[in-house]
Amino acid sequence: MGAELRRKLVVGNWKMNGSRQTVRALLGAVGARSKTLGCEVVVCPPFVYLDLCDVVLSATDIALGAQDISEHASGARTGDVSATMLADFHCRYVLLGHSERRTCHGECDDTVARKALQAVAAGLSPIVCVGETREERQTGRTYEVLSRQTGVVADALADGGHLMSLTVAYEPVWAIGSGVTATASVAQDAHAFIRQCLARYSATASQRVRILYGGSMKPDNAAELLAMPDIDGGLIGGASLDAQQFLSIVDAAAGLEAVQQETEPSRTSSFTLP
Ligand code: PGA
Repeated sequence: MGAELRRKLVVGNWKMNGSRQTVRALLGAVGARSKTLGCEVVVCPPFVYLDLCDVVLSATDIALGAQDISEHASGARTGDVSATMLADFHCRYVLLGHSERRTCHGECDDTVARKALQAVAAGLSPIVCVGETREERQTGRTYEVLSRQTGVVADALADGGHLMSLTVAYEPVWAIGSGVTATASVAQDAHAFIRQCLARYSATASQRVRILYGGSMKPDNAAELLAMPDIDGGLIGGASLDAQQFLSIVDAAAGLEAVQQETEPSRTSSFTLP
């Protein structure tokens, strides 16, 4: 049992970028390839472009995701958007706990867990971002941070039997938007650790939950990262705004998925908890 159970997944996180014009152009370029993708592809535009994306992507194999949701179901929450609203726009995924939300909006692990519960209640798959800062890595606290961030969400979802709908994105904060990518072995080590954390809740779910890498993934480093046994795809920021770059990462993932389906049973990951 291993990576052959997990389809490669490439997610574009457009963050707060774009205009109606550039979104149309990007969708046109990415959507034109959508019938020959070879792996699962999701784009996460800003809320205001979800409708436009929903209309264009409904004719493609590319799924729609959003970048955040409220931790509440509905009501007097000015400026917030609920999980059910996203489901109404045919979103299938939602990013949660991105380090930019944690840092700029003070989101804590419990907030992220509450959002994950709202997501699954509305039928959305949460993509929960975890990752250590440079300082946490330098002071030897990487595992502690990953264990805590993963554990709080896994606790909440496992309770209701929703662990299988989780996707985790390992995004070392020092690698996001910095042009500094984690080496394949540093990333693999963190991914294997996160999978072990999930195994405390369910051995089956830990083998099925996809763990994406995010943080300056580009066409020139994607194949090496995606070839690692516990790296099941990418969460792409900057490079997802350029159709050529994004599609070249999708191609790298698709190529590896094809190879994996043929050879995977012999490839297993191992990791011993420190
Ligand atoms: P980046 O962003 O690819 O620009 O580093 C990744 C992310 O923040 O999800």
